Amino acid sequence: MASLTVRQLDDAIKARLRLRAAKSGRSVEDEVRVILREAADSLDALVPRSSGSGLVQDSDPVRRTRSATSSKLPRVTLIIGGGIAAYKALDLIRRLKERAIHVRCVMTRAAQQFVTPLTASALADERCYTDLFDPQSEFDAGHIRLARDTDLVVVAPATADLLAKMAQGHADDLATAILLATDKPILVAPAMNPLMWNNAATKRNVAQLARDGVSFIGPNAGEMAEANEAGVGRMSEPAEIAAFAETMLRPINSRRLAGKKILITAGPTHEPIDPVRYIANRSSGKQGYAIAEAAARAGADVVLISGPVDLDDPAGVQVIRVESARAMLAQVEKSLPADIAIFAAAVADWRVANAGEQKIKKTQSGLPKLDLTENPDILAAVSKLKQNRPKLVIGFAAETENLIANATAKLKRKGCDWIVANDVSPASGVMGGDRNTVHIISANETESWPVMSKDEVANALVKRIADATGAKA
Ligand code: CTP
Repeated sequence: MASLTVRQLDDAIKARLRLRAAKSGRSVEDEVRVILREAADSLDALVPRSSGSGLVQDSDPVRRTRSATSSKLPRVTLIIGGGIAAYKALDLIRRLKERAIHVRCVMTRAAQQFVTPLTASALADERCYTDLFDPQSEFDAGHIRLARDTDLVVVAPATADLLAKMAQGHADDLATAILLATDKPILVAPAMNPLMWNNAATKRNVAQLARDGVSFIGPNAGEMAEANEAGVGRMSEPAEIAAFAETMLRPINSRRLAGKKILITAGPTHEPIDPVRYIANRSSGKQGYAIAEAAARAGADVVLISGPVDLDDPAGVQVIRVESARAMLAQVEKSLPADIAIFAAAVADWRVANAGEQKIKKTQSGLPKLDLTENPDILAAVSKLKQNRPKLVIGFAAETENLIANATAKLKRKGCDWIVANDVSPASGVMGGDRNTVHIISANETESWPVMSKDEVANALVKRIADATGAKA
């Protein structure tokens, strides 16, 4: 195949190329590729189909369509980090391409100890980038263009070191400069030794990145490359990563819930003891907020009734803020009818019956006596409505032991259609954290989902709701 040096073209053509590339948001190199591809396609159209033409016709209609439209394919910048799992990243290139996703690879210096840029280039059918300061061409894509001229940045494998650099905002090589300069979503597939994954520093970095909006897939549990080592730390399989990347690039839930009204409760409730003190719990509201945002993205008309939380209103959602369980119930009743109701709030079970109108003072005569009384059960009340019952009522079960048994009993007791069960014991890190492991329990089945970010749980739940309510994809 002939190679072409853009530098040898005359200045007028170079200027026109630069302009065209800037307009389409591509590198000059890519723009030249697009022009050549278009020219080749139009050449094909001119050449008669007879085998005597000397040109081999592509008989595969899928391949023909793909090559003709490849400039419109979703684009992934795949950053390959320096770990033994780098060899799996080569398979990931193939898996992404199988899904008609354009892949452009970037390798860290350490990654090149495991796999070569040449292999990645051959598989991606495009040059693999390695240097921040590449002297090869004045038309080099540059880190800013590599960061922007894409729809998704995938980091696989993401080593502990790369995660630390990302969390700190370092930019001392091409990979980290792209990660810092990109305005596109980032998907990270960590791979490291289980001890490194469980190290407090890595946990801090992962939590920080999740807060920054980075999505994670894996790591999975299993055997490590090191002999006799096993645990959580294996990179997710390339097919899993490619499928996940595709859901980020081609959102499955787009507008599937248009025309549906969804009522969601989230966060804790605060039950007053007196005007300055209250009973509360550790719920952050993150899961309920993520569901509200995902449902709104899917086109639903969402009303979110939220207890006191430290979160911004999700985009496109009507938010009603309340303090106590009784105020939450009143707002839920006001917001009915709805097609679907999701009760993600951690409602306080009890309130103080004799809450003081004034601040309770310390006295010589002993401790104040607080009488507790039970709060209304909002989920049970709505599930048992004779009129205006939403078609699908979903509760949450926050349990610290016997998760599935307790959650199944709760489903029956409260009369809802599904229960999203999650382990909220301190060791799980769910309360206040960014990840969740849930089980979807209905009358006839229990479905266990892998560890996911709360955003991923929200998207998957919205998809399941759309599937169950027959909403068209
Ligand atoms: N819930 C509710 N109103 C309440 C208590 C709970 O709407 N007063 C809802 C929650 O929003 C959740 C489900 O009921 O969807 C289960 O909440 P959970 O706290 O797990 O269970 P409880 O009913 O409080 O039972 P227990 O504390 O005994 O586990």
